[in-house]
Amino acid sequence: MSIVITGATGQLGSLVIQHLFDKNVPANEIIAVVRDKEKAPSLAEKGVEIRHGDYDHPDSLVNAFEGADKLLFVSSPDSDDTLRIVQHANVVKAARDAGVKHIIYTGYAFAEESAIPLAHVHLATEQAIRTTKIPYTFLRNSLYTEVFVNPALAASIEHGAVVTNTGKGRLNTLTRSDLALAAAVVLKEDGHENKTYTLVANKTWSFDELAQILSDISGKTIVHQAVSFEEEKAILLQAGLPEHLALMFAGIYQSIAEGETFRTTEDLEKLIGTPTPLEESVKQALQG
Ligand SMILES: NC(=O)c1ccc[n+]([C@@H]2O[C@H](COP(=O)([O-])OP(=O)(O)OC[C@H]3O[C@@H](n4cnc5c(N)ncnc54)[C@H](OP(=O)(O)O)[C@@H]3O)[C@@H](O)[C@H]2O)c1
Repeated sequence: MSIVITGATGQLGSLVIQHLFDKNVPANEIIAVVRDKEKAPSLAEKGVEIRHGDYDHPDSLVNAFEGADKLLFVSSPDSDDTLRIVQHANVVKAARDAGVKHIIYTGYAFAEESAIPLAHVHLATEQAIRTTKIPYTFLRNSLYTEVFVNPALAASIEHGAVVTNTGKGRLNTLTRSDLALAAAVVLKEDGHENKTYTLVANKTWSFDELAQILSDISGKTIVHQAVSFEEEKAILLQAGLPEHLALMFAGIYQSIAEGETFRTTEDLEKLIGTPTPLEESVKQALQG
């Protein structure tokens, strides 16, 4: 079995490889595709083959995917959605030309109903993969819990408030590690061909509940201060975020307020069991 993983130097890709090791997949069955080989010395030391592959350079990808029984295609982090579609088309065409036997793609949950522009990238990529007739598995991932639950919460505890424009919106996030474990299961096991998994939590949470968890952990009263989109944007700009990031975060919060992330499924639990509880993620984030 030859498992090829793109984005292998990234946070999700690294965790997938770690989970494959934990599942006793031998290092010589894993091939890490990276933009920059200098960033992957620890993987090479563990016996993983490192291949150069850049989504902007199609030729590098055909060589990188040679011999792949399973290709985990981690979506590009580029902020230009139009360019991202070009990069993804490069990956899909290279997978076809290299004779990859099964593509596993990290997409976005409920993309058809989503108000977030990058949903189009994920839907376009899934359609591109279907044109190749290569067996696929679409891992339609939730937003990462870490986007919201991260060491910056220490400042919220200090100020006694988490400030967002999510209103009463609910979130179906999962940790990167849980999503990576689901990918590792699909990479190791047979029987996931031509399946679409919507990998969101089976239980949602709100920022009011997050504030309560922060209160319980810190012993201080932490509230969720619900503000408007414009107020949130102004707060983020004042905190020093560049305009495009302030707009992006306030925009994500707004879409949460409008119901982007309220749906649940059992798909993740069927693959890996119970996901990491929110309290656990908060404790880990506050430990740094
Ligand atoms: N669900 C969510 O909440 C959420 C949030 C953020 C992102 N995402 C998506 O999920 C993906 C994985 O998340 P992550 O946390 O692992 O992101 P990440 O840590 O930023 O990793 C992205 C990976 O993509 C690689 N990459 C970037 N440009 C490339 C190119 N032109 N050719 C080949 N590889 C390239 C990076 O390589 P280098 O190490 O060389 O930079 C890195 O290994 C992201 O790329 C993004 O599409 C999802």
